[in-house]
Amino acid sequence: MKHLRSIAELGMDGALEVFRRADLLTDLLSGGRRDDLRGCTVATVFFESSTRTQLSFEAAAQRMGADLLRFNEATSSTNKGESLRDTLETIDAMGCDIMVLRHPDVGAPWLASRWVRASLVNAGDGSHEHPTQALLDVYTVRNARPGRRFDGMRLGIVGDVRHSRTARSDVALFSLLGAQVTLIGTPALLPSCLHGWAMGSGSLDVDDDLDAVLPKLDVVMTLRVQDERMGDAVASATKRTVERYCLTEKRAAMLSTTALILDPGPTSRGLAIASSVADSQRSMIRTQVANGVLIRAAVMQLLSSERYS
Ligand code: NCD
Repeated sequence: MKHLRSIAELGMDGALEVFRRADLLTDLLSGGRRDDLRGCTVATVFFESSTRTQLSFEAAAQRMGADLLRFNEATSSTNKGESLRDTLETIDAMGCDIMVLRHPDVGAPWLASRWVRASLVNAGDGSHEHPTQALLDVYTVRNARPGRRFDGMRLGIVGDVRHSRTARSDVALFSLLGAQVTLIGTPALLPSCLHGWAMGSGSLDVDDDLDAVLPKLDVVMTLRVQDERMGDAVASATKRTVERYCLTEKRAAMLSTTALILDPGPTSRGLAIASSVADSQRSMIRTQVANGVLIRAAVMQLLSSERYS
């Protein structure tokens, strides 16, 4: 595997290999340093805002011994009209082995991989895919579930699914591993076409009745409104609908006692999820963030090992 642009490109065996590697990297979270990526240059090229994704790639790269090139769109020559292609080729020409790209346009990592020599990691392309987020979400659930099995596990995703790349990659990976996924919301919150979203032996359905679905779930994931992908009028209408589906304390009490709560962040407190629920015992939000470092380190280790093999 040269690139990680989508879950389909990684496949089930690739995902399990990433988890196996992440299991061996837990020291990175407690001061451990490694040199697996010594001599390797990682560029983080973000054309959209990010806290978790960008910083966890950078933490992972540095703790694994890589050199880092940070691209900052706000102070870059894109403001002087430089094209995406010229920008990426410029970074590549400085010597870059792994390019982590976040871009508002769907498909940007596929175009980029035709232009540069580096391995491409998709850190989010518009509302399309965000494979490392799905990997860290699944890894978080795997580690918290006895038996680490996904067959028949029930996941509900609620919020602005329509504009969420996280939802799409999560549906792909959870279903690939055998989970039953339900997207919860009105048609306005859901994609108009779900063709190709589910993979493997899992299933995908939709439901507009959150209260009826909640008691059956093993995992519920909340999503914020992706305002940046819609106009103001649609954003306020979407916010009103997402608020109706808010994971309140009352609703969280309908979940089974072993159910887990996930949110990729940024957490939309009070709108998609009550603050007290986000901070509750079964909220996995901080664990997801920590696992993000391990998963991204494992992905880069895998890409660099295949690069030189
Ligand atoms: C997600 C993203 O950027 O797609 N966040 C993240 O990577 N942690 C989800 C979001 O922004 O809502």
